[in-house]
Amino acid sequence: MAEREVWGTRIGFILAAVGSAVGLGNIWQFPFKTATFGGAAFLVVYLLAAVAIGLPAMLAEFVIGRRSNLNVVSAFRGLGYRKWRFVGIVGLVTGFWILSYYSVVGGWVIRYLFGSLTGAYFGDPAGYFGTISSGTITVVFQALFMAITVGIVAFGIEDGIEKATKVMVPSIVVLLAGLAVWAATLPGGGEGYRFFLSPDLSDITENWRDIVPFAVSQAFFSLSLGMGAMITYSSYLGADDNLGQDSLSIVAFNTFVGVLAGLVVFPLLFAQGVEPGEGGAGAVFISLAQAFSELPAGRLLGVVFFGVVLIAALSSAISLLEVVTSYVVDNYDVSRPVTASGLGLVLFLLGVPSALDIAVFTWFDAVAYGALLPLSVLLVLVFVGWVLADEALDELRKGTNGIPTLGSVWLWTVRVVVLVAVLGTLVLGVQGLAEDPGLLPPV
Ligand code: PHE
Repeated sequence: MAEREVWGTRIGFILAAVGSAVGLGNIWQFPFKTATFGGAAFLVVYLLAAVAIGLPAMLAEFVIGRRSNLNVVSAFRGLGYRKWRFVGIVGLVTGFWILSYYSVVGGWVIRYLFGSLTGAYFGDPAGYFGTISSGTITVVFQALFMAITVGIVAFGIEDGIEKATKVMVPSIVVLLAGLAVWAATLPGGGEGYRFFLSPDLSDITENWRDIVPFAVSQAFFSLSLGMGAMITYSSYLGADDNLGQDSLSIVAFNTFVGVLAGLVVFPLLFAQGVEPGEGGAGAVFISLAQAFSELPAGRLLGVVFFGVVLIAALSSAISLLEVVTSYVVDNYDVSRPVTASGLGLVLFLLGVPSALDIAVFTWFDAVAYGALLPLSVLLVLVFVGWVLADEALDELRKGTNGIPTLGSVWLWTVRVVVLVAVLGTLVLGVQGLAEDPGLLPPV
C-alpha cells in the first residue's frame, strides 16, 4: 500500500475544507431553501444552526479524522471502536446519495456556462431552465461534471484538490460581491432585502416544523458535515493544527459566502417580479440568467460567473468522491485512478433518474435533508460525545499551544445540547417526509 499523503501546507487544508464547504450548497441550495421556507425567518434559524450546531459538529468530525489519520470507515477501527464502523458507513451512503444529484446540478452549471458563451438563454431566461433541467441532454452534462470530478480526484490530494481550490476561493468572493453591489442598484430590489433580512418571528413559530429541520440540515449540507468529507480531509492533518481555530474560520467563511449569494439572488428575484418560493430549484438559475441577459457585457460576466460556480461545485464534489476513494485506496490494493473512475461511474448511474425527472431529483433532496444528513451527524455526535469522550478532548487540545480551548464546554454541548437538537431535527425531518415526501415545490 502506498504511503499516505498529507496536506502540503496548513492553509492548504483550510482552503480545501473551505472548498468542500463552499459550493452549490451556498450559491444554489441556500437561496433556494431560504426562498422556499419564508426568507428571513429561515435565515435566522440557519445562522443559529451553523454556529450552535454546525461548529461543534465540525469539531467532532475533525477530532475523529485527525486522531485516526484514516478514512471515514477505518477511522473507527483505528481508534479502537470497530463496532462503530457503521457510523462511517452511514456517512459514506449519505455522501453517495448527495453526490448523485449534486452532479446533476453541476451539469446545469456547465450548461449555463455554455449558454452564456453562446447567448442561448438570452432570449428566454425564464423558459431556458425548464428545457435544460431534465432529459437526455441533462444526463450528458451530468456525466461531464462527474468525469471532471473523477479526473481531479485521480491526481491525488495535493496536486489535484489543493491547487484547484486555491483559485476558486478568492475569485468566488470577488465575483459575488461585485454582483451584490450591482444588484443593489436595481429598481424594485428593495423588497428582496426585506424578504431576506428582516425576519418576522411569527413565521418561525408558525412554520417551525418545516423551517427547523431544513435549516439545520442546510447547515450540515453547506458545511459538508455528515458525509465523512471533513473526517477524511482532517485525517491528512498533522498534530500542530489548531482544530478550533480552523473550524471557526471555515464556518465563518462559508456562512459569509451563503449570505453574499442571498444578497445577489433576492434583490434580483424581486426586481424581476419572481415570487420567491415559487420558482423551486430553478429560481436561482433563472434569476441569474435574467440578470446576465440584461447586464452590459452579460455574456462575459455570465461565463465568468458560472465558471466560478463550476469550480466551487467541483471542489465540493471532489471532497465527496475523495471520501469513498480514500476508503478504497487505504484498504485495498487498487490504484487511485481506477478507484475514482469506478466509483464515478456508479455515482453517475445513481444520478441518472434525477437527471431525467425533476420529481425524482426533488425526492432525493428531500430524503437527504429530512433523514440522511441529521441521522449521520447524530451518530457522529453520539460517538464523539459519549464514546470517544476524553480522548476527543485530548485531541482537541493538540496544536493549541496552551490557548484555552473551552474543551469541556464543547464536549458537554456536544453530549447534550447539540445532540438533542439534532435528534429533534431528525424526528421532525422524518415526520415531514412521512407526511409529504415531495415537500419541496416542483420546478
Ligand atoms: N458543502 C457543499 C456545498 O455547499 C456540498 C457538499 C455536501 C460537499 C456534502 C461535500 C459533502 O455545496
